[in-house]
Amino acid sequence: MHFSNWEKVGFAVLLAAWVIWGTNKIGNTLVHAHELKENAFKIEGVEKAESGKADKAEAAVPFGQLLASASAEAGAAVFKKCASCHTTEKGGANKVGPNLWGVVGGKLAGHDGFKYSSALSGVGGQWSYENLDKFLASPAAFAKGTKMTFAGLKKGSERANVILYLRQHHDNPPPLP
Ligand code: HEC
Repeated sequence: MHFSNWEKVGFAVLLAAWVIWGTNKIGNTLVHAHELKENAFKIEGVEKAESGKADKAEAAVPFGQLLASASAEAGAAVFKKCASCHTTEKGGANKVGPNLWGVVGGKLAGHDGFKYSSALSGVGGQWSYENLDKFLASPAAFAKGTKMTFAGLKKGSERANVILYLRQHHDNPPPLP
């Protein structure tokens, strides 16, 4: 067989193309590109955005409705998060935070013998169910500079449960909204 120079060049080009294609194929077979199920590096903002979605879904349920289906028993469990700073029994001691007997419907920052921050006492008004809900969602947002260094209960259902629990620690609680 005799090839012209042009034919040799043609074969060389084809061969080169085949080698490049072939290595690419082999490379792809050896190294599988996995789709990761979740980000290898967790991105804070993204997770927050996702849990934010759940919050929004729950926020669609009006607070009154959450309260109507709340459970004081579940609220007692939630209150474990508060018990390091608060007592709830009648005549109970003030700890880091004030005793909470009768707080529902009472005056804001109104417990005798507790030194409130001016941030909270400056807000004024009553602890309506709605105010308690707002305060417990984010104490710092409700009363900027409050001494209650607690991040807040993100879930509306937890807030409703614990508020119902507080309502039971009362001589004469206001009617549910
Ligand atoms: C780290 C301690 C701490 C934790 C935990 C905490 N609190 Fe408080 N709480 C305080 C302090 C301190 C105040 C007084 C705030 C001020 O004067 O600014 C307060 C105030 C309050 C008040 C207002 C009382 C009034 O007389 O006006 C309510 C209601 C309350 N807390 C409920 C709760 C509930 C419910 C939880 C749990 C979900 C909780 N707190 C968790 C320390 C805490």
